[in-house]
Amino acid sequence: MICTFVLLLLNLVGVFGDADAVESVLVMEGDSVTLNSGVTEVQRDDDIEWRFNSIRIAKANIPQYDRDERFRDRLKLDRTGSLTITNTRTTDSGLYKLTITVGDNEIINTFNVTVDAPLSIPVITSDISKCSSSPTCVLVCSVMDVIRVNLSWYKGISLLSRISVSDIRISLSLPLEVEYQDNNTYRCVVNSPLSNQTKHVCITDLCRLCSVLSSDEVHYFGGTEAVIRLVVTALVGVAAVAAFIVLVYDIRLRRAELERHQTHNDGSKILK
Ligand SMILES: *[C@@H]1O[C@H](CO)[C@@H](O)[C@H](O)[C@H]1NC(C)=O
Ligand SMILES: *[C@@H]1O[C@H](CO)[C@@H](O)[C@H](O)[C@H]1NC(C)=O
Ligand SMILES: *[C@@H]1O[C@H](CO)[C@@H](O)[C@H](O)[C@H]1NC(C)=O
Ligand SMILES: *[C@@H]1O[C@H](CO)[C@@H](O)[C@H](O)[C@H]1NC(C)=O
Repeated sequence: MICTFVLLLLNLVGVFGDADAVESVLVMEGDSVTLNSGVTEVQRDDDIEWRFNSIRIAKANIPQYDRDERFRDRLKLDRTGSLTITNTRTTDSGLYKLTITVGDNEIINTFNVTVDAPLSIPVITSDISKCSSSPTCVLVCSVMDVIRVNLSWYKGISLLSRISVSDIRISLSLPLEVEYQDNNTYRCVVNSPLSNQTKHVCITDLCRLCSVLSSDEVHYFGGTEAVIRLVVTALVGVAAVAAFIVLVYDIRLRRAELERHQTHNDGSKILK
């Protein structure tokens, strides 16, 4: 099954002869996309040419792979000159320009195609640097390397907060402060115009560390200090033992050498 997603973000202002009209097309990686010529039928001798980022990829309804191998066996053209790209890859993103020459007229259609990789599920962590004595912890929802998405926190069905990124590819993080005992269901959602992914939160699990660290019995920084002290003591101990071993070894070595010298001088003990 091939599903075809064609999302027209801009409407064409007069298809014929308008060289400036650029149609934005968004497609999910792996899906097929059809770029419509905008004409109902082309005559046999009509001059049809498709270019991808200026490189010719089809001429007179015949795909040409020689200049750009990336499209091999993935282009289809129909009688109207429309171009279908199958099994799209993110590297298919770019400008596709169709030129149809009818007599003295030239019809030019330009498509700005963006192939988006599927979204990955957001990652939720607790920010332990924000642990405090109040019974709250801060959860951080993150997505890596995204473009044209919204990242949102929901409590039940209501939207709590949202950040958006448009045309640059970046990583996003959105914090949320919750109470340890909160029984509500929280989720973090990332969505693009083509897809979305949801991560549900288990507050008890995520906030456990924070609740332990900020409880009265254990002080986080005191804890680290104690650990550091322990490690330093252990290291000093190990170093002392190592120095002792080296010393003993050295003494033995010297003694052995001394003996060898002596036996050498005697001459009597060399061959046993
Ligand atoms: C094509 O779209 C991208 C965003 O998807 C945009 O950055 C770029 O400027 C567009 N190019 C043209 C020629 O419209
Ligand atoms: C959460 O649920 C428990 C019972 O399941 C209830 O005792 C407690 O009061 C609830 N906490 C809040 C903050 O609603
Ligand atoms: C992001 O949210 C805004 C409303 O806050 C909406 O207009 C826009 O379409 C959303 N973008 C995506 C990619 O879903
Ligand atoms: C997420 O995608 C599903 C289909 O996969 C759709 O039914 C749902 O409305 C989408 N939700 C959002 C918030 O975009």
